[in-house]
Order: sequence, then C-alpha cells, then structure tokens
Amino acid sequence: MSADGLAQAQRTMTDGGVHPTAIDVFTRFYGLLESGETGVIAEDDVEPLRDVPHLADLEVDEASARDALAATVVVKLNGGLGTSMGMDRAKSLLRVRDDRTFLDVIAGQVLAARAATGARLPLVLMNSFRTRDDTIAALAAYPDLAVEGLPLDFVQNREPKLRADDLTPVRWPADPDLEWCPPGHGDLYTALYASGVLEALLAAGFRYASVSNSDNLGAAPDARIAGWFAASGAPFAAEVARRTPADRKGGHLVVRRSDARIVLRESAQTRPDDADAATDIERHRYFNTNNLWLDLQALADELGRTGGVLELPLIRNEKTVDPSDKTSPKVVQIESAMGAAIEVFDGAAVLEVDRSRFLPVKTTNDLLVLRSDVYRLERDQRLTAEVDAPFVDLDDHYTTVAAFDERIPATPSLAGAASLQVRGDWTFGSGVVVTGEAVLDDPGTPSHVPDGATVGPTGIS
Ligand code: UTP
Repeated sequence: MSADGLAQAQRTMTDGGVHPTAIDVFTRFYGLLESGETGVIAEDDVEPLRDVPHLADLEVDEASARDALAATVVVKLNGGLGTSMGMDRAKSLLRVRDDRTFLDVIAGQVLAARAATGARLPLVLMNSFRTRDDTIAALAAYPDLAVEGLPLDFVQNREPKLRADDLTPVRWPADPDLEWCPPGHGDLYTALYASGVLEALLAAGFRYASVSNSDNLGAAPDARIAGWFAASGAPFAAEVARRTPADRKGGHLVVRRSDARIVLRESAQTRPDDADAATDIERHRYFNTNNLWLDLQALADELGRTGGVLELPLIRNEKTVDPSDKTSPKVVQIESAMGAAIEVFDGAAVLEVDRSRFLPVKTTNDLLVLRSDVYRLERDQRLTAEVDAPFVDLDDHYTTVAAFDERIPATPSLAGAASLQVRGDWTFGSGVVVTGEAVLDDPGTPSHVPDGATVGPTGIS
C-alpha cells in the first residue's frame, strides 16, 4: 500500500514540475517515515556542548570583517505561513513597528549595512509557492535592493501532504493548493541547489551566506560574525544562545560521542528517561538561534558529493489538510530543519551570541512585545531592548493575528511591565499603559480597556 503511496507521491511531484533532486530528498524522507524512524538521541550517547566562544570576546580586525562581509549574502527564510498565528501568507508582511512590516525592517537593515560598510550584501529571500507573490510585490517599494545579476528570491520546493492513514497524497478538491506544503526550512539546501541560485552566488563572487528566519529581526547583518566565520575556515556555523528557564523544554545542541559531531536534539528526540538531563540548562546550555553561516563553496562540494541530498533528520509534522478546519482529513507533512545540517558538516562551528540576536515572533504574545516601547528601532534599523522584555500571556481570544489586531489595534506601553496576563475578551483603547505584574481577569462578556487607562496587578485603574 505505501510503496504505492510513494509512487503516487513521486508521480504527483513530477507532474507538478518539482525538481528531480527535491523528489530524491522526499523519497529518502518517505523511507524514514515508513520505517517509523524516531530520531531519538539518548543522553548516554552524547556529551554536553562546552567551551563555545562568545561573540563579545572575539577579536576580529576591522579589515577582515569588512572583507568577509563583502563576500556575504543575506538569506532570509520566508517560506513559512505562520499557521500557528492563523495566517496563510508570509509572516514577514505583518506590521511590526508602526506601519512597517518585518520585511520593511529587514530591507532597512540590509540597506543600512550596505551604506555603513560598502558591502554589496545581496538580500535573497527563500519564498514558498504561498508567500512569493505578496512578498515580491511588497519589495517593489525598494528599487535599490536588487543586486545586479542576482535574483531577490528563489522559491522552495513543494511536496504533497500525505494522508495520515495510508501515506498517499491527499486529495482536496475544495482547494487543491492545500494538497501541497513547503517541506520545512531544511529544504533551504535543496532549493538553493535546484534553483541554480547557489551556483549564481558563487559565480558572482560570494562565498558566505548569513541565513536567518524572516521573523527574527535580531539577526541583522553583522561584519564581526562574518569576519569570525571566514577566519574559522568552518564549512558551517550556528549562532547559539544560552538557554534560560523559559527554554528548558526546547531543543538544544549536544556533541555525539560516536563521531564528536555537534547535533541538534529537539525535545521530541529525547527519551522520556533522559528528560531531567535534557531540561537541565546548566548541563545542556545552548540552543540554536537558527542564525546560520554557510560557506557556499563547502555546501556546493557537499551537495555535489551527495547528489544534492543532505542526510538531515526527518520531522514528521501532523496537521489537517485545511489548517483552519480541524475536521478536515489528517495529513502528515514531511519536513526537516535547516539547523540540523550542523551534523552533516565535518568541522561545523558554533558561536555564542546575546539574546538580542534572537527575537523570534512565534505567537501574538511575541508580536505584542515587539510592537511595543520595550524596543527601540535604531537608525540602522536594529531593534534594541530598552528594558527587559515582560512575559506576556494572552488567552485564546488573541491567538490569530486577525483576532489580536481587532482587540489590540493600538499597542499599549509595556516598558513598565514585568508581565501581562489577559484572560477573556478585552478590547484595548489607545494610550493604555501596563505596569508591574499586570492582570486582566475574564469579565465573562466582551469588555473594553478605556483610552489612557493603566493596567496593573489589580486590573484597570
Ligand atoms: P517556523 O518554524 O516559525 O514556521 O519558521 P512558520 O511556517 O513561520 O510558522 P508556523 O509553524 O506555520 O506557525 C521559521 C522560519 O522558517 C521559515 C519561516 O518563514 C520562518 O521565517 N520557513 C518555514 C520556510 O522558509 N520554509 C518552510 O517550509 C518553513
């Protein structure tokens, strides 16, 4: 039955014009999926990652930093759909500071870094078939952004969603677009290769790529990191940050005993017996920020050697074919994570960075903080924190961006807040100030926070 499933999926991909290398990658993952591969990494088989250099302690001379940045291209992952926030288009088109979107800030950071350093610094987005048109239309506002001879983006591959019951491609005539999904950001390598962009960048004299998520505005172009990476001679590097108690449950980096390679261990890859060790943030100190540095020549060599198929671990992602309709058929999406490639490269390196290089927006809680006066947008378009970010916890009334924007159209001041917890259906007026450990309890009916109100530990005053 599932050999048939694979054949059907391959045929669907071929008919859909998917690049043969992407079909090879999918085929390998399909095999892993069928074999029930779990990718579990036992604590006994790993050592904690230690002795990681910190960016602040590095000595990088200015001339090498400048030279390295001159050979660097900025790649932003822009193929995700932000489904956890109820979106079905690029998250980077969300408004994040006044009327500026993530994409505006990213374009601003790149243009400012070019002006400051003289580097050509191309910006190349990895879009998916769902994010491309909107994104390219938005970039028309930046006629100076494109670097001659290079594209502003490439489109990642697509693959069929598989029915959870028999692993055949799902049919969804109500919206056939929903029969397809992007294969996670681990597709970066396949897509760079299959699109010809890897070759074009090398031919244009670029050697390094600084890759990051478009929803992480902390990952601005950085000449010192470029200088460090170039001098390291490493084929691949990950910016890592110290885990805090809030990151206890998340993935982390470990060193595999059998070959001394650094590998990512996601929480789903941890044995239940190892939970204590895995959540011990003094033992396993670092998580992957997903800000990566690639030596494009080393990547081209590795892809050439492997026929374009990097042996990344499989992520089995279970969803419904229509993410907004939980009663639609259950599907499995074959995915992989780009950071997992750290185990593929001999001599891969890690660099510790401050949390300021990691400002992801995964939920509307994150979005509220980023929109607020907790951060200042500098002239070079970097975001700097004015105060420690408060812990924000909005309830289910605010999960989707549409519901959130409707209820919080004007961002309250959070600079004086230690935390904000909102329960119930509150709509915020303008000029609201949040202070201390603020709480809004559920009033039971839709309610309003008046213009200019203060919200504190005892609610509205
Ligand atoms: P996330 O893991 O946050 O996924 O992506 P997402 O798709 O944005 O959000 P959900 O899970 O649907 O809510 C991290 C980064 O990787 C990109 C996203 O655009 C984001 O910048 N990404 C993700 C891709 O480029 N391609 C993918 O297939 C998946």
